[in-house]
Amino acid sequence: MKITVLKDSDRVARALARRITDALREQPDLVLGLATGRTPVDAYAQLRRMHQEDDGDWSRASTFNLDEFAGIDASHPGSFRQFMQHHLFEGVNLDPSRIHFLNGAAADLDAECDRYEEAIHQAGGIDLQVLGIGSNGHIGFNEPGDELLARTHRVRLQPSTRRDNAPLFGDDPSHVPAEALSMGIGTILRARRIVLVATGAKKADCIARTVNGRIATRVPASVLQVHPDVEILLDRAAAVRVGRT
Ligand code: GLP
Repeated sequence: MKITVLKDSDRVARALARRITDALREQPDLVLGLATGRTPVDAYAQLRRMHQEDDGDWSRASTFNLDEFAGIDASHPGSFRQFMQHHLFEGVNLDPSRIHFLNGAAADLDAECDRYEEAIHQAGGIDLQVLGIGSNGHIGFNEPGDELLARTHRVRLQPSTRRDNAPLFGDDPSHVPAEALSMGIGTILRARRIVLVATGAKKADCIARTVNGRIATRVPASVLQVHPDVEILLDRAAAVRVGRT
């Protein structure tokens, strides 16, 4: 894994935005995997600014988001689809037909997961996957446990994850859906290139366990150690325990 430590979260945002616009320039029909959460929001704002200044042509790119809550539809204000619309999609020239999302309101959620795997395959696979990390080490919504699932699947969210996502649901964890749909660990590892971003002291522990530790299903992000092209972009606060066990 390549670990890049930058002075502060603003620099991490700018570095992530730059990685994405460089990839778009090299490959205009880029298939981009995207993450929600607070961490990439400043990078998304930067990407919208860059696009306004003619830096970043998204017209031929496709996107696949990592995950979505189950039981709510794409128009729900707490949905990741709305989050992405607000933070990125409405500010760049993406073709709406190339924006791909898991539908948490599908009648058959298992069939919806299969459809998504197939759609990624049909698009030629993900070229660049952006990841955040949950404070418990999750990526996408692949929660710590005795086992991890390779394919896109339904997940029962852990209480800590529901608490972390409460701001999207009026700050009330009980309003956060109990289930979600998420790309699996295999889906993520098949991306040709991965950039994970983490900022702030709250992420120092899970980052240390991701990069220093053994590969363990209790730390889902630790599986990234086996991927040949992963960069971890950190601010100083998130990096304090890297290299120490
Ligand atoms: C959610 C998302 C993850 C994200 C995580 C971290 O649980 N499903 O993809 O990485 O939040 O969020 P934050 O960046 O707000 O810490």
